[in-house]
Amino acid sequence: MKIAIVLGTRPEIIKMAPVIDEINRNNSEVILIHTGQHYDVNMSKQFFIDLNLPVPNYNIGIGSYTAIKQISVIISELEEILQEENVDIVLVQGDTNAVLAGALASNKLKIPVGHVEAGLRSFDKDMPEEINRLIADNCSLLYFVPTKETALNLLNEGVNHDQIFITGNTIVDACIRHKDIAIAKSEINNLVKFDEYITLTMHRAENVDDPERLKSIVDSLINLPYNIVFPIHPHTKKSLINLDLYENLKNKENIQIIKPLGYLDFLALLSNSKLLLTDSGGVQEEAITLNIPCVTLRYNTERPETITNGGNILAGANSEEISNNIKNILDKPEVYEKMANAVNPYGDGESSKKIYNTIKEIYDKDELKIKKAKEIMDFKGYHLYNITEEITVKQYETENRYSIIQQVFNDGVPVNIEDSLKLKGKIIIVKEFEKNK
Ligand code: UD1
Ligand code: UDP
Repeated sequence: MKIAIVLGTRPEIIKMAPVIDEINRNNSEVILIHTGQHYDVNMSKQFFIDLNLPVPNYNIGIGSYTAIKQISVIISELEEILQEENVDIVLVQGDTNAVLAGALASNKLKIPVGHVEAGLRSFDKDMPEEINRLIADNCSLLYFVPTKETALNLLNEGVNHDQIFITGNTIVDACIRHKDIAIAKSEINNLVKFDEYITLTMHRAENVDDPERLKSIVDSLINLPYNIVFPIHPHTKKSLINLDLYENLKNKENIQIIKPLGYLDFLALLSNSKLLLTDSGGVQEEAITLNIPCVTLRYNTERPETITNGGNILAGANSEEISNNIKNILDKPEVYEKMANAVNPYGDGESSKKIYNTIKEIYDKDELKIKKAKEIMDFKGYHLYNITEEITVKQYETENRYSIIQQVFNDGVPVNIEDSLKLKGKIIIVKEFEKNK
């Protein structure tokens, strides 16, 4: 089995690392394609070193351009590479431009796409990442989703349940595998000026490309009575300098700005911090994995489980809201303890195994392909039924060959659909077809 992985940015390298390990451990072939969207040593190469990854087979070297140029060049370069390599599946991860380009190019070449971390939704179409996720999910054959809640997003959008696999998030695999070694080996403590501090990361376009929001966040940071360590993303540094805000932050005694860190150093920094302030997706997930309370500098999150489980709070970009939330957590031990003890919703660190095993099982059945329609089928529509008999999803769909269960509600609450789910007492919505006579 030959698997291509398309990645382009720091979080994709980190979250795909356990999947690459798993493919190699099982002696399947992996073709690694780096788009080059992140190119600084401390945004890319350092992660290949820290995570013991092979050098990519290809580097498209796209660098920093407008999204349109990035996406269009990556797609056309991928056309040549993927035609040459003849792979069984292309895997993409998350929601960056590399994901959109990788999924679309593969789909146009009729190569099956597996989307790792599929189904996340912020329902905010102002975010470039939301559009990337939606398009990648529309191009995918296999959906590896982190949680049941995420699976429901895809069911709501009409994806068939037999294409959705709840695997947890590979960030937990990466975190668990590297945390101890990071704490033992990293010398980040020698660099950090403070014993007690908040870790800050920020780079999202909706914050750093919006002068009003960026000013408001900086205003809050400058007035916070806590120590802050800020490994600064190059995107953010550029915006702060352009707005003449960089020096304001840099000159504050209690704010330490440092370069972006390698993975081991960052894990060590985060593990030792009192609290996380971030707009990052991956770092929100790491915080709840490492029991660090998180305040998120966004108005929404595609990781709502971190909020419902009690480990994360949305503070937006409003200066007062940010300060009040941080104070509330750090000054009240009972609030702090509750947040630090929130249950991690992203699995047990076995996500990459589940992803690989699922792909292999489908490949071994010779089903890793985009199926051609073989029968003429008329779509009859969606129908709602109240199920009164003892029957499972699998049995229902076997008995009703031209029906696919799209949604199941138990006491009005949508539940994830698995073959073994018992339907008695539940309401189902079914996508029904009729065989052309
Ligand atoms: C990208 C992703 C974002 C992800 C983030 C992870 C998209 C649309 N955005 O955002 O979803 O959360 O990566 O970190 O795909 N730059 C450098 N050196 C680098 C990389 C970038 O200096 O190695 C600077 C350049 O000035 C560039 C800017 O950062 O213009 C933005 O980079 P870009 O890759 O477009 O977006 P990110 O903010 O990194
Ligand atoms: N990270 C890192 N060094 C840093 C900041 C973040 O290694 O200085 C890691 C972090 O551990 C997490 C990932 O980068 O796994 C998150 O990436 P980022 O915040 O850039 O992107 P997002 O997750 O928001 O897409």
